[in-house]
Amino acid sequence: VLVDAVVAAEDSRFFEHNGFDLPRIVKAALSNLKAGGITGGGSTITQQLIKKTYFPDAQKTYSRKLSEIILAIQADKALSKEEIQWMINAFTTGEIPDYQMSAMLMAICFQGMNHDETLALTFAMRDSGDVLDLSGIKGVKVDKHSTGGVGDKTSLILTPIIAALGVPVAKMSGRGLGHTGGTIDKLECFEGFSTSISEEAFLKQVSEVGVAIAGQTANLAPADKKLYALRDVTATVAEKSLIASSIMSKKLASGSDAIVLDVKTGNGAFMQTVEKAEELARIMVAIGNGAGKKTYAVITDMSQPLGNTVGNIVEVQEAIEALNGKGPKDLMDVVYALGYLMLKAAGVAEDEKEARTMMEKVIASGKALDKFADFVEAQGGRKEQVYHPQLLAKAAITETITAPEDGYVEALNAMAIGTACMSLGGGRATKESQIDLTAGIRLKKKIGDSVKKGECLAELYGNDAEKCNDAKELVQNAFLFSKEPLDAPETVLKYITA
Ligand code: URA
Repeated sequence: VLVDAVVAAEDSRFFEHNGFDLPRIVKAALSNLKAGGITGGGSTITQQLIKKTYFPDAQKTYSRKLSEIILAIQADKALSKEEIQWMINAFTTGEIPDYQMSAMLMAICFQGMNHDETLALTFAMRDSGDVLDLSGIKGVKVDKHSTGGVGDKTSLILTPIIAALGVPVAKMSGRGLGHTGGTIDKLECFEGFSTSISEEAFLKQVSEVGVAIAGQTANLAPADKKLYALRDVTATVAEKSLIASSIMSKKLASGSDAIVLDVKTGNGAFMQTVEKAEELARIMVAIGNGAGKKTYAVITDMSQPLGNTVGNIVEVQEAIEALNGKGPKDLMDVVYALGYLMLKAAGVAEDEKEARTMMEKVIASGKALDKFADFVEAQGGRKEQVYHPQLLAKAAITETITAPEDGYVEALNAMAIGTACMSLGGGRATKESQIDLTAGIRLKKKIGDSVKKGECLAELYGNDAEKCNDAKELVQNAFLFSKEPLDAPETVLKYITA
């Protein structure tokens, strides 16, 4: 009786439309548009009830409307696509103030979002700015994204390999922040290299060279930029639907046909356990597929840095060594895993073995290195530095860390090494920080390696003696030793392809 009474009073068509009445919403939107403000309409029953309970005499304002939505998410945990779109639009244009959006973010952190809500949030952020049209480029365009790590230079190695195999790569990348590095900073190690290229030049380069990497333009998912800045200062970054929608809104706006995600797990990553990383990966894969893009993910280990270098120029040098066939196993395992998924998404390789053989061949023939050199040159960089990486700039100071005892490396804390690199000047504490591209760390020992007392564990490179001293202590403490031998950890932990 109560249900019938509420339905009769509030929305007689409730059971026909399942709580979401599109004709009424459209009618309400049109009358709002005509009146130049909110005059009413379009709410679900939950919102109607909330409005009656909490705002009996309320004015029809944007602010009141968002308060209703915040309470609605707390009450029935599901927002409609239109509510989410309205909220993101109004936040981007400044009609919803930061303090109200902060409350909304916190509500999302507590309640989470279901698949439809997460998809709607992603699409609303994607559509808040430019969506790149890559349809003029022949072939299946495949993008790759990593959730961020320490020593992760896979994009530098992978993109020329994939391009050399005939699959076009049109990639937008970011800069490093905090203990994690970014591809754009690494590419800028080459003298003259530019990552701010016009859309026209970007598309032309992908067609002609097969690979282009640009910095994210200001108008790529601007709603995400604004929302991320607010999440950053309200301790609401780590919610999985918010992370997934943030990353995927930018990937979808970048316009590729297929997306391959490297979701890191371990102490250097956002997601500290494999289970949490898998949850995030599955949400992102579902968003990508929901948007009609073939999307795969791989969970990889970030409990210790990837490869043997951390810092911009040293990582570029290691990437070049890898393209010369001399990459360390843990790094190459991740490169081959991601490459397999990219080639599979592009329909170029059937299985992992076939993909790996193709990639090994393109490295051995020198074609991948040549592709990298062509790509660096196309974006204004000094090609010679690809073939002679010793021409890249060097730091003035080298410090050495040695083993305090005999044994085996049991742990090498990725977060601590990333933080040490930042304190050497090689990373950014804030978005505005200037970085020293020559600062970095070369690891001589990693988990599972045997060590003798006094043997070199790592070399540190910097230009400021005080900073080098601070970093030395951090690096020394990042190593833990065992008397018992142990295996190196696997880096490729799980594929998520469906
Ligand atoms: N990277 C992003 O782009 N967004 C997040 O929310 C987290 C990591």
